[in-house]
Amino acid sequence: MKYLSIALLALMLVACGGETKVENEVEGTQEVLPSSLVHSFARPAEARVRHLHLIADVDFEDKVIRATASFAVESAKGAERILFDTKDLTIEQVFLDGVKSKDWWLGEEEPFLGQPLELAINDTVDTVSIQYVTSPKAAALQWLDPQQTAGKRRPFLFTQSQAILARTWIPCQDSPGIRYTYTAEVRVPGDLMAVMSASNPQSVDSSGVYTFRMDQPIPSYLMPLEGGDLTFLTVGDKTGVYAEPSVVEAAAYEFEDMQKMLEAAEAIYGKYPWGRYDVLVLPPSFPFGGMENPRLTFATPTILAGDKSLTALVAHELAHSWSGNLVTNRTWDDFWLNEGFTVYFERRIMEAVYGKDYAQMLALLGWQDLQRELEHLKDVPEDTRLKLDLEGRDPDDGMSDIAYEKGYFFLRTMEEAAGRTAFDAFLNEHFADNAFQTITTEEFLGHLKADLLNGDEQRYKELMVDQWVYEPRIPENVVSVKSSLFEQVDAQIEGWLPGGKATEIDTTGWTTHQWLHFLRHMPNSLTVDRMTELDRAFGFTKSGNSEIAAEWFVLALNTDYHAADDAIEEFLIRVGRRKFLVPIYSAMVEQDPTKERAKMIYLKARPNYHSVSVSTLDVLLNQ
Ligand code: BES
Ligand code: ZN
Repeated sequence: MKYLSIALLALMLVACGGETKVENEVEGTQEVLPSSLVHSFARPAEARVRHLHLIADVDFEDKVIRATASFAVESAKGAERILFDTKDLTIEQVFLDGVKSKDWWLGEEEPFLGQPLELAINDTVDTVSIQYVTSPKAAALQWLDPQQTAGKRRPFLFTQSQAILARTWIPCQDSPGIRYTYTAEVRVPGDLMAVMSASNPQSVDSSGVYTFRMDQPIPSYLMPLEGGDLTFLTVGDKTGVYAEPSVVEAAAYEFEDMQKMLEAAEAIYGKYPWGRYDVLVLPPSFPFGGMENPRLTFATPTILAGDKSLTALVAHELAHSWSGNLVTNRTWDDFWLNEGFTVYFERRIMEAVYGKDYAQMLALLGWQDLQRELEHLKDVPEDTRLKLDLEGRDPDDGMSDIAYEKGYFFLRTMEEAAGRTAFDAFLNEHFADNAFQTITTEEFLGHLKADLLNGDEQRYKELMVDQWVYEPRIPENVVSVKSSLFEQVDAQIEGWLPGGKATEIDTTGWTTHQWLHFLRHMPNSLTVDRMTELDRAFGFTKSGNSEIAAEWFVLALNTDYHAADDAIEEFLIRVGRRKFLVPIYSAMVEQDPTKERAKMIYLKARPNYHSVSVSTLDVLLNQ
């Protein structure tokens, strides 16, 4: 039992304005523990978790997990309580060092935060165990019936914990600033496999019992669990894929370059810190493109285009192994530190593996996304700042393309100002110095000024760093990106729009990204005849590429091209990825403000969506 003296603690609180510095035993480094957190009820300066042992029984019949979470805790001298975050959990029993305790309370339910669970302890308590059951409506969990899977034979469960949904399936100190190691014992039906962000099985164990170990400390938002009919295939030395049997070969083919991506990343940012890197391909209802669960990225099957053209997403989730998982945003207000850095790294990895032209296309598509987002947020300019203020808001509401693309363009601008060699050295140091810790925007800017800009105040001002971070919109010193491959597309568009023939558009060698650029530059004033001509020439309505299809569907809705109606409906029912659903449903609503068709499709599709997508779409379609 290690603790700080209360007197020392009080002194430090005074000294650091509400933050407490403690020795981090695991890494032997200093860690900052805020005395109170924005989106968590935890008070880590009083008592915090260090290790979790989770014993969980997954019940597909009742759609619940019955579990005991045992935490090794560390408390300040004189500590009297430990606080956990919970949401929709039924707490059954609590044990302190193995002895049942009745001194615990669930606090008032607060919107999106859930309820604090307070346990009375004293500073000699080493272990607290919480026995609980999840709710069938637990927001992190999606329970799929067999017919919602590719194989149609066995049920499937997956979790999505980021940003603050871990508390709906584990009582935890749910803040990115609180790291812990974990071990787990999970029971699923005998023919299913279970995987987590830990050492994972590579084959089914007929006992249905799987054990996991994660020796590196991680925050709760990186806790996942998945149970289903899975097969594993090796891709490279330290890389592989998990998917349902009918999908796994396509996945292994699509991600063939994963090992190369891993090696490219290591060459830029240093050794991959997590052991293996595998990707789990989920059913299409997964609400995100990808989720960077350590050792095991979760990915949507909508990136299986058959031609490896959408695998930047794998580079993105892999890059999070450094930016996010190793060096983590302290609170969700600093989310851009996770995502902006990751987009920057993603494009560096893609550049190393596929060349500059490829990476430039990604950057330009990102620029277009950024312009759309700025337009979309024009009435809430404060949400276009990199540093957010999400107090009192659901963090999910503030997480937009700003963190990703404005973050990327800020870092690109800094890279060009400092030169790549200096910038890489700076980032390498950033990862080495902050490994297994969290960082705030202010700390990062401090390092940027001191290390990258050698303390040169004038330079810092010239580079408009504070404007980038604290002010809305995009400062004028942003780097400009150009792509000759996109210029080729522009030339073809210019030829076709005034009355050329679609069959005469020279599309030789066009990649998915060029097609996306093409579609994004089609005006909404296209007539149905012109849309028909395009569709005949290029088969967009039947495209097997989800990005191209989604872009086309929005255009079809905007131009009243009804020949795509059935394909749109089929897509909306099959796919649950929020990034596609929102623009398609929005275009549908725009076209028909009565929302009749959108609501009719949503009624059929909603049971297939994860709560993350449902909560956004319920608002959009005001169910
Ligand atoms: N960590 C995010 C996903 C996320 C963000 C989940 C915020 C919950 C809250 C992940 O790394 C991500 O950014 N995914 C993107 C794909 C990427 C290529 C931009 C996505 O899902 O679209
Ligand atoms: Zn990301």
